[in-house]
Amino acid sequence: MMLVPLKRRKLVLSKGNTGVDGGDIVAAKFPQVVLFLLERKMGASRRTFLSQLGRRKGFQVEEQFSKKVTHVICENNCAEDVRTWLASQGGEQAEVHLLDISWYTESMRAGHPVHMLDRHELQELQVDKSEVVVFSVPAYACQRRTTLENHNTTLTDALSLLAENAELSDEDGRGVAFRRAAAVLKVLPSAVKSTSQLTGLPCLGGHSLRVIKDVLENGSSSEVESTKGSEQYKALKVLTGIFGVGAKTADRWIREGIHDLRQLRDSGHALNRAQRAGLEHYDDINQPVSKTEAAAIEELVKKAVASVLPRAQVVMTGGFRRGKPSGHDVDFLITHPEEGREVGLLPKVLSWLQSKGFLLYQKTTRNSYLESKEGPGRPPSSMDRFERCLSIFKLLRTEKQAAEAPQDVMVNDVQAEGEQKSDESSRPEQTAAADRRWRAVRVDLVVSPISQFAFALLGWTGSKLFERELRRWAGYEKSMCLSSHALYDNNQRRYLRASSEEEIFAHLGLEYIPPSERNA
Ligand code: UTP
Ligand code: MN
Repeated sequence: MMLVPLKRRKLVLSKGNTGVDGGDIVAAKFPQVVLFLLERKMGASRRTFLSQLGRRKGFQVEEQFSKKVTHVICENNCAEDVRTWLASQGGEQAEVHLLDISWYTESMRAGHPVHMLDRHELQELQVDKSEVVVFSVPAYACQRRTTLENHNTTLTDALSLLAENAELSDEDGRGVAFRRAAAVLKVLPSAVKSTSQLTGLPCLGGHSLRVIKDVLENGSSSEVESTKGSEQYKALKVLTGIFGVGAKTADRWIREGIHDLRQLRDSGHALNRAQRAGLEHYDDINQPVSKTEAAAIEELVKKAVASVLPRAQVVMTGGFRRGKPSGHDVDFLITHPEEGREVGLLPKVLSWLQSKGFLLYQKTTRNSYLESKEGPGRPPSSMDRFERCLSIFKLLRTEKQAAEAPQDVMVNDVQAEGEQKSDESSRPEQTAAADRRWRAVRVDLVVSPISQFAFALLGWTGSKLFERELRRWAGYEKSMCLSSHALYDNNQRRYLRASSEEEIFAHLGLEYIPPSERNA
């Protein structure tokens, strides 16, 4: 504090005391800036002194806090405490700057409000600052290594459920936001204990943070619990569990009052071939496929392919390639080292499988991708145009598997609640799983020419979010367009060739991430 001759000091004090606020002494020079000095921890006399100093410099310094205030100046307070105080004044909605005294004194010295810098902001946490582990994570999932090891399953399960519900409700934008938030938590090296550890992390929006906070503080999220219990969510889960039924169809049925399989059957709705197969094999298809079962299917597919075209290659893609222990289906990519030899392969593979009785259902779509015609912008990034077969395989059980087969094949509690025990009357088509020597398994077969194989492999390995993030990275950061067929560089106006996934990552300027670390 500077020394002021006694005479002048008296003058200053008496002058200051005459006005109710600064406006009475000098007209405010900076009408956009209305200051309030918080007495807490600053002390009453220092506050009076600093307030008067400010007024003399032409600042508007209020005696009382009100809605007019734009800047709250504090000394030795943390942001959290000031926000609590602000809330007690009914000002929690107000758009005020919470600033440290250093901003005020610097402004006094400068004679005008100085630019607000980070160091002028109040510290977020006063206590435990050294003990809190603050995480840091790159913004795009394709820049991160996401293994199956997850230290935050409670949080990611909560967010994933909300993502799923959003997707089922045709709100993809919200779904992606929750998926991104969950993916960030999946890469953290330890369990999150407080939201303060998440400061500065990407992709954590207000909604996701609220859910996280709820779970951390109460052990569960009220929104998640009410979603799980809602009739709409339960019905959407049960109905979209039918192969061939998407969110839109399910929603239409629900609006007609159809909430479960029995009501669907009773409604007399005409179902397409896929949906009929889906209903027939409902329990099996909703039962996760194990690694062992996937391996058995792989053997079968390889045998079929080898018998119709010996040098053709088969690779298991999807979740199993990423090392997942189970999946909802088994995905395969088929190619041939000589470009063009893959044409006509799939129908032959399918008739081989059909003749041996391994196919319960299949529907093939033809390859509709033509690079020259599509142009770089197309196909729409999430779609691809490969020759593809969506099928249901009949997988024979070994003696051991048959003995271990669950008596009552219920997928999850949602289904168990929505649909009572599957007795013969409600399931005329379905023989009890335990009595059967086989089970139905969803299998996707995709055929790619060798020139597009690396792109197809990358595109079909997933995870879905990892793929989405790769395409977002390509577009936003590299001005490129990535699909399961090709990579186009908008700046160079040409396709970038690649014969391995490593080359594609290199084209994209990304570190190579192996399949086991793409579990975003
Ligand atoms: P899946 O839906 O099979 O996912 O798609 P998954 O990761 O294997 O998970 P589970 O275990 O079966 O549930 C596998 C990959 O194929 C791509 C997806 O982007 C995903 O990366 N895919 C799927 C497509 O490119 N197009 C499609 O029409 C379907
Ligand atoms: Mn899959």
